[in-house]
Amino acid sequence: KNAKAIVLAAGQGKRMGSAVPKQFLELDGKPLLYYSLECFEQSDLISEIILVTGKDAIPFCWRIVEKYGFQKVKYVVPGGKERYDSVYEGLKACEACDIVFIHDGARPFPDGEMLERTMEAADKYGACVAAVPTKDTMKVGNAEGIVERTLDRKTLWNVQTPQVFRYDLICQAHREIRKGSMEGVTDDSMIVETLGICPVKLVMGSYDNIKVTTPEDLVIAENILSRRTVGPEA
Ligand code: CTP
Ligand code: MG
Repeated sequence: KNAKAIVLAAGQGKRMGSAVPKQFLELDGKPLLYYSLECFEQSDLISEIILVTGKDAIPFCWRIVEKYGFQKVKYVVPGGKERYDSVYEGLKACEACDIVFIHDGARPFPDGEMLERTMEAADKYGACVAAVPTKDTMKVGNAEGIVERTLDRKTLWNVQTPQVFRYDLICQAHREIRKGSMEGVTDDSMIVETLGICPVKLVMGSYDNIKVTTPEDLVIAENILSRRTVGPEA
């Protein structure tokens, strides 16, 4: 099966509040974006990477690609206003294949086994998302901040990326949903869910697979990285 990866790095990182967009902030001397690109580059499952970034950051991204020798990055394309617009731009650059991985460049720690698990589920079900069982108890609050009810934790998952789809299904889903309102769409599986195109399988991600969103996440990411770098020979 031929699989390609769309890596998203076109956000502005407003919640991080840094001068440089968060995907380019340095983590142990390398841009945050390096780590997810390296994971896809190293995976035998992936034949090609499409990198989506801000229009002005395209030359900088090509420099990253050259510096670290990412041979699978074939296109670096400008993203759009919202995340789903950036995904759509990525899909437009993605020539037909069997399976498409969609991954946040702000998530540095996917791993090879996660790619295998999600690839298998996407092939079987049509769509899947990496996710982890929620550790916290979750409550629904009303507009006044009063608890309405408590959700059953056993059924709750924190969703991550990669979100992985059969190519034809995700292309069809994006084309269809763009005819109407995209309000409230926060991730790709939602599009498939909303249209009822196929089941979306939850696949175990990892608790390390965090998204760097605010400054304290950078400290956590450094910590995860130092733990992962300490190999058996250290
Ligand atoms: N993203 C994108 N295009 C957009 C918005 C987001 O490619 N128009 C990407 C981000 O670069 C990131 C991923 O989608 O890798 C997840 O989005 P998020 O964490 O929300 O990043 P930002 O939108 O950059 O951050 P913020 O919402 O704080 O501004
Ligand atoms: Mg955002």
